[in-house]
Amino acid sequence: MNLGRTAKEGFFKMRVQMNRGRSDAAHVLPKMLRVPVLILVVCVCQFAAATARGQSFSETSEQHEARIAWWRAARFGMFIHWGIYAIPGRGEWVQWTEQIPVEEYAKLADQFRPEKFDPDQWAATAKAAGMKYMVMTARHHDGFSMFDSRASDFTSVKTAAKRDFVADYVHAVRKAGLRVGLYYSPLDWRYPGFFFPDLQLRNAEAMREQYHRQVEELLSNYGPIDVLWFDGGEQDWLSFGGDWAGGSTDGWRERPAGQHYRGRFSWEHDKVYATIRRLQPQVIVNERADMPADFHVREGDESLGSFDNEHPWELCTTLAGTWGWQANAAVRPLRGVIQLLVNVAGRDGNFLLNVGPRPDGQIDPPQVQRLKEIGEWLGEYGESIYSTRGGPFLPGDYGVSTRTGSTIYVHILKSPGDKIVLPALPVKVVRASVLSGSELRFAQTDQHLEISLSSRSPSEIDTVVKLELAQTADGIKPVAVMAQ
Ligand code: GLC
Repeated sequence: MNLGRTAKEGFFKMRVQMNRGRSDAAHVLPKMLRVPVLILVVCVCQFAAATARGQSFSETSEQHEARIAWWRAARFGMFIHWGIYAIPGRGEWVQWTEQIPVEEYAKLADQFRPEKFDPDQWAATAKAAGMKYMVMTARHHDGFSMFDSRASDFTSVKTAAKRDFVADYVHAVRKAGLRVGLYYSPLDWRYPGFFFPDLQLRNAEAMREQYHRQVEELLSNYGPIDVLWFDGGEQDWLSFGGDWAGGSTDGWRERPAGQHYRGRFSWEHDKVYATIRRLQPQVIVNERADMPADFHVREGDESLGSFDNEHPWELCTTLAGTWGWQANAAVRPLRGVIQLLVNVAGRDGNFLLNVGPRPDGQIDPPQVQRLKEIGEWLGEYGESIYSTRGGPFLPGDYGVSTRTGSTIYVHILKSPGDKIVLPALPVKVVRASVLSGSELRFAQTDQHLEISLSSRSPSEIDTVVKLELAQTADGIKPVAVMAQ
C-alpha cells in the first residue's frame, strides 16, 4: 500500500468549528454587546483550543535543541519490530499482504509464548553495537498490544504469553543505561473504520478511542519514555489514501497529491499531543501522527537524502532486509552498514537500525554478530560519530564530514588517492592525522586545504582524517567539496 506521507494541516477542523461557534453566538446577542462578547468568546475559545493542542507546552528553538540534545548526541539506535507476526515469519505486514482474516490472524496470539525473550540480552546486544537508544514496537498495525491495556483484549498479557513485554523491555533498557523508545501505530487493521472512516465512522472512533487511551497508558505506566515513534497516524492514510467521489459509478478515487482527507473522522491528534506534553513533556516525538514533531523520519536506505542540519531527522532501515522477522534473511555486509551510518551522521541525521527478533524472542545470531562488529568499529572510531554534527564539508564523492568542538572529521568513503583537496577553512588547522593513526602532512592556503594521504594505510570502510583546529568549528558554514 503506497499511501505517501504528505503532511497535513492538522488543526483545520478545529478552526472550522470555532468559526461556526462564533457566527451562532452572534444571532442571540444585542448588537452593542456583540463585539466585546465576541472578542471574549474568541479569546476563551482560542485559549481552550491552544490548551487542547498542547500549546500550553511551548518552548523556544534553543529549549527544543536542549531537549533533544541527548538524542542528537546519541546518533545511533536500535529499532525492534517484534510481535505475533514473527510466528509466520513473513514480515510484520503478513496479515495485510496475505489478506488473513482478522479472526484467523488473532489465533497467532494463542501460540505466542516466546520462551527465549530476554530483554537484558537485547539491551546488551544494542550496547555492544554502540547504540545509545532503542525503539520497540509496542503495537503495530495488526493491533496486537505488547503491553497490558484496558483499551484492548488483544494483548500479550491477556493471551498465551501472559506477559507485559513493554514493561520488561523498558526495565531492561533503562538498567543497561540506554534511552527508551516505543513505536506505536494509531491505525489498527482490525477496524474497518480505518479503511472506511466515513462509512464506518463509529468504528473509526472506537479505533481512535483505543489510540488515545493506549498512548496515555504507555506514558503513565512505564516511567520516563524518551522517544515516542508513531507510524500510520497520518490523516492522509485514511480511506486508502483516496476519497469516495460519490454517485453510483464514480466510486473511490485516489486523492491527488496535495489534496487532503476531508471526511468526518479526525484522529484528534491535538488531544493526544496535549496528553503527551502533560504526562511526559520531555519525550521526543516523530512526525507520523500529524502533530508537532521533534524529528522527521527518512525510511530506507534510498531515503538517505541530502544534508540537513536545521530539521532534526532520523534514517531508519533494516539490518537484514526485513522489519518483522523472516527466516534466513541475509544480514547486510559490515562495510555497507557502517558507511550508511557515517553517511547519515555526515548529513547530520540519526540512524535507527532494525532487528526483528524471532518468535521465541531471540535476535538471530548472525545479526547479533554483525552488531558486535559495528560496535567494534565504533569502539575505535566512535569519537567521529557520537556527539558530532554533520559538516562543515558537505557530502560529496569523497564521503562526508562530521565535527565537534574544534575538531573536524573527514570520512573518506572511497578508496582514497594520495591526497584530498578540501575548500578553504576560515580557521587555522593545527594538526591533521588519521584517526587512531599517524600524523598527516597538509597545506592550508586561502584557496584550499590539501591533505597528503600517502603516509598512512587507507581503510576499506572509512578513512577518518582528524583535523584539529585553533578554534571551534561550530560557526563554519557548510561548504561543498570539489570532486576528487
Ligand atoms: C514501513 C513499514 C512498517 C514499518 C515502518 C518502519 O512503514 O510498512 O511496517 O514499521 O516502515 O519505519
